[in-house]
Amino acid sequence: MTDQQAAGGTGGAALTDPAALAERSERARKTAEGLGYLSGFGNEHSTEALPGALPLGRNSPQRAPLGLYAEQLSGSAFTEPRAHNRRSWLYRIRPSAAHPAFTRIGNGAVRTAPFTETVPDPNRLRWNPLPDPAPGTDWLAGLWTLGGNGDATQRTGMAVHLYHANAPMDRVFSDADGELLIVPEQGGLLLRTELGLLAARPGEVALIPRGVRFRVELLNATARGYVCENYGAPFQLPDLGPIGANGLANVRDFRAPVAAYEEVEGPVEVVNKFCGNLWTATYGHSPLDVVAWHGSHTPYVYDLRAFNVIGTISYDHPDPSIFTVLTSPTDTPGLAGVDFVVFAPRWLVGEDTFRPPYFHRNVMSEYMGLIEGAYDAKAEGFVPGGGSLHNMMSAHGPDRETFDKASAAELRPQRIDDGLAFMFETRWPLTATAQAAGAEHLQEGYDAVWNGMERHFGA
Ligand SMILES: [Fe+2]
Repeated sequence: MTDQQAAGGTGGAALTDPAALAERSERARKTAEGLGYLSGFGNEHSTEALPGALPLGRNSPQRAPLGLYAEQLSGSAFTEPRAHNRRSWLYRIRPSAAHPAFTRIGNGAVRTAPFTETVPDPNRLRWNPLPDPAPGTDWLAGLWTLGGNGDATQRTGMAVHLYHANAPMDRVFSDADGELLIVPEQGGLLLRTELGLLAARPGEVALIPRGVRFRVELLNATARGYVCENYGAPFQLPDLGPIGANGLANVRDFRAPVAAYEEVEGPVEVVNKFCGNLWTATYGHSPLDVVAWHGSHTPYVYDLRAFNVIGTISYDHPDPSIFTVLTSPTDTPGLAGVDFVVFAPRWLVGEDTFRPPYFHRNVMSEYMGLIEGAYDAKAEGFVPGGGSLHNMMSAHGPDRETFDKASAAELRPQRIDDGLAFMFETRWPLTATAQAAGAEHLQEGYDAVWNGMERHFGA
């Protein structure tokens, strides 16, 4: 089995008929419009699709209600501190253990840490959006790895993926290597997970926990976006310190699904990503058959526009860590395996302040993407669906045009409302995959945006 073989799976022919695709998207949109959610982050949620499906008073009664099987899904070691412990109890039509052997399929364009195809590059790199996919490309086949760090088998580090799809998944996918933070940039997604259904449109993000099975359907003809695969500790909300009890991403704005199940008796392809490789098995039933569940290891969605943006009301601006939505901590306090940071609409009011992001060199490594509009440190070249990589200690900041403009601007209160950029910021340098380092959509001459920074000293 070679990596070059497409992650096409063993299922039936890909869906390419325009009318059938439009009908599937229409159905997905109607389903997405009617979804209800449970509110909160890290809650002990309880939900049942049928009354009486959830046992009361115990997790694993001698006979679970309605003839269901009880099963625990752990997102943390049993013994981790209560504040970090994640697990859910699932009540399902068949236990997950009832499946045939997995066999390997090609990894398509998916790569996994450790990343050794290229050497880590100190240069500033920037990519245009992924090219259009071939007809019949589902979300998994459209997943393309840009790079990352760490080692999935050691549960450290992260990967940056992009996706570009034009067909719904008929197969089911799960990732044993990490949780998946999905950032749609074009086209909405309907995520059918073991724990229920979620919709994520551009401006929203969705998280699929490690090991949770799911299928991606498209709300529009195509879907494009970014994925942070986090091999490390599950994302949590950052501590707020002196900010207080509220602010940044508020707990109640995170939405988990309500229980929903499929009763499909017949072949369903299930693809499992395990230590970097894709494996497939054809089940005799749908594994999305959880009728009720309770627990804290759950998928969720979050609307980035709900982010409570905090900034200066005097001078300078706080470091961009003030924009952290989610953080994956490591054993060193304050040093994240990966932070997810959003640059959401906000007011700039700093007095005698250079208002765009300042020039800097950062011990952390930064991958930036753009969901819509423009970013206030880059006048051009950084486009929605594209991305930039500023590795450990690489010098970056506003491009020359932005610097000149911001240095001369009249400092009236200014609303930044035409862009939604984000960053995956990680403690380890990111190494690009061979396909990213050699991509046709890798921009040439990114360094030139800092050309012609004039000497003012002594002038
Ligand atoms: Fe930066």
